[in-house]
Amino acid sequence: QDNTMLAPTPPMGWNSWNIFQTNINEPLLKQMVDSYVSSGMKDAGYTYFVLDDGWMAMERDKNGQLVADPKKFPNGMKEFADYVHSKGLKFGIYNCAGTKTCAGYPGTRGHEYEDARLYASWGVDYLKFDWCYAEGMNAREAYKVMSQALKATGRPIVFSLCEWGSHRPWVWGKDDGQLWRTTGDIGPYFDKPVTKNGWTPLTVLNILDRQDSIRQYAGPGHWNDPDMLEVGNGMTVNEDRAHFSLWCMLAAPLMAGNDLGKLSEQTKNILTNKEVIAVDQDALGIEGFRYYAFDGIEIWVKPLTGGDLAVCFLNRSGRAQTLNYDWTAHLINDTTSKTSVDFTQTTFKIRNLWSKKDLGTTQKVFKQPIPNYDVVMVKLSK
Ligand code: DGJ
Repeated sequence: QDNTMLAPTPPMGWNSWNIFQTNINEPLLKQMVDSYVSSGMKDAGYTYFVLDDGWMAMERDKNGQLVADPKKFPNGMKEFADYVHSKGLKFGIYNCAGTKTCAGYPGTRGHEYEDARLYASWGVDYLKFDWCYAEGMNAREAYKVMSQALKATGRPIVFSLCEWGSHRPWVWGKDDGQLWRTTGDIGPYFDKPVTKNGWTPLTVLNILDRQDSIRQYAGPGHWNDPDMLEVGNGMTVNEDRAHFSLWCMLAAPLMAGNDLGKLSEQTKNILTNKEVIAVDQDALGIEGFRYYAFDGIEIWVKPLTGGDLAVCFLNRSGRAQTLNYDWTAHLINDTTSKTSVDFTQTTFKIRNLWSKKDLGTTQKVFKQPIPNYDVVMVKLSK
């Protein structure tokens, strides 16, 4: 069975963790499924509905099988999976390589094949596999065993490695799964982290700054995963837009993590902007890179199909600015993707992907206001 094309473009979906943590249950989640469809998320290309940690009972049953928490899921997990499928979505679930999940539920260690068979019998399409309670385990081996167990079921199941980067999964993860986390957990913070219960999640900018050096490992079928989206979870609309744009520039998996039942117009407009999503989903699968920086403004570039380019100006300077950018003054030369552009030789048309306006060509100096912690994101086409 060839699983390499399970995710030809970065997977898109929704995951319960960022907003609900372990406080999940069937009625709440069915409401999320319904909103996923009615809000237009599904139409925008989101496909997976993924339950994260907290879905299980605290113990395996007497046969050693995992069971859904009967209080949270009174009708069992198969019924819930069927509900997700009945809405035209794919169903994802979570477990952990170690003896317990991070939240203390039964882990998979020693049960890889039976758990994989159970998931397949429920119709699971995606497994996120965490890395807690894994003392003494070899990450590469552990993920390989689970990957083989999933393949042995005969059901195509996307395998999402959640090891946070310390074992360099970008080097080997491609053999096992379709995506691998590159860092620890994100929080709903753009630049200033907030400590809660003694723990400090990473900010959007912390994570962004750790992607450039590993971009060569991503490509169609195998993706760097800079963690799930925090759009709609408390950042400003500018920050949400910047976070989403940058994740699309990184060809990141787009896993929304907000309360879909309380989706504001602004949040919806960000998560469902098809022109921005198209940058993420471009068939070449090239992860974008930081190309140039000045005055606290960074320019990220992502080569697209047909010689087009996505360009994202990020203002992290701490103050509102007006871009005044001469395209012709800088060559683009990216050895990783073998892209070179000389704007004195080639003229591109410019389209602003957020205002959805055409803005002339790269022959003129590009003038645009750019608030702090926001982006101007454009597509350049020939
Ligand atoms: C750590 C992961 O990185 C998170 O995304 C989430 O899955 C939690 N574990 C669940 O306990």
